[in-house]
Amino acid sequence: MLKKFQRWKKEQQTGERPLSDRKNELLKYEVPQHIAIIMDGNGRWAQKRSLPRMIGHHEGMKVVRTITKAANNLGVKVLTLYAFSTENWKRPKIEVEFLMKLPEEFLGTFLPELIEENVQVRVMGHLEDLPPHTLRAVEKAMNETKHNTGLILNFALNYGSRAEMVEGIKRLAADYQQNQLEIEDINEELISSYLMSKELPDPDLLIRTSGELRLSNFMLWQLAYTEFWFTDTLWPDFTEEDFVEAIEDFQHRGRRFGGV
Ligand code: FPP
Repeated sequence: MLKKFQRWKKEQQTGERPLSDRKNELLKYEVPQHIAIIMDGNGRWAQKRSLPRMIGHHEGMKVVRTITKAANNLGVKVLTLYAFSTENWKRPKIEVEFLMKLPEEFLGTFLPELIEENVQVRVMGHLEDLPPHTLRAVEKAMNETKHNTGLILNFALNYGSRAEMVEGIKRLAADYQQNQLEIEDINEELISSYLMSKELPDPDLLIRTSGELRLSNFMLWQLAYTEFWFTDTLWPDFTEEDFVEAIEDFQHRGRRFGGV
């Protein structure tokens, strides 16, 4: 309630258009079908407040809920969130353990709400290396939401794009060896079908928070024609307004897919 009032006050003072008007306006144009987000800056958010990094991750988890709701309400079809990369295992053990508990906490708290909102939970990544408690939580969520037809909330968990490609190419080569396909069958569509994102459209919009301008081994194949949107805002500070701004920017760009 207080947040709503503060937003209203700011809108009055700055002459900004109310968020509800901006969202209505957005819906008149093409809303990206698939939005992918590199949620960065949790550690710095905490450090700025002299708090442990874990508090930043925990705040970041709350933002996941806000943005999932916003995406679902705007009719986005797929929201892919980079929650843990294959490189993140290099972090201190205590931080890795904390990050591995977040899906459990998030789903333990919000799964009923996600079900009510018709959200389908999916996970892409090397699930076999996840701790059993994390795997149990995500499998339960995937199972209980598999028939939902609203937003696909796709967590990239223990995901790395190069490893995804290597593993996909190995399966493709094995299928070739077993005469399941011919060299002539290999095209972009076929390669996509060997990746963890198979069945999903490529992202239309990639958002990365915290001012970093890299892809960090995230969906390298799938992002070939994606529009990128970067912000200095740290993920725990990322709001629905920022999300709407990213989509507004997307709508002002002319996507030509290499044409004129
Ligand atoms: C990068 O920030 C963020 C991560 C490695 C983890 C992202 C995870 C969440 C936002 C929560 C996930 C929630 C669920 C439900 C799975 P960083 O730690 O690299 O930040 P820094 O660059 O400032 O250090």
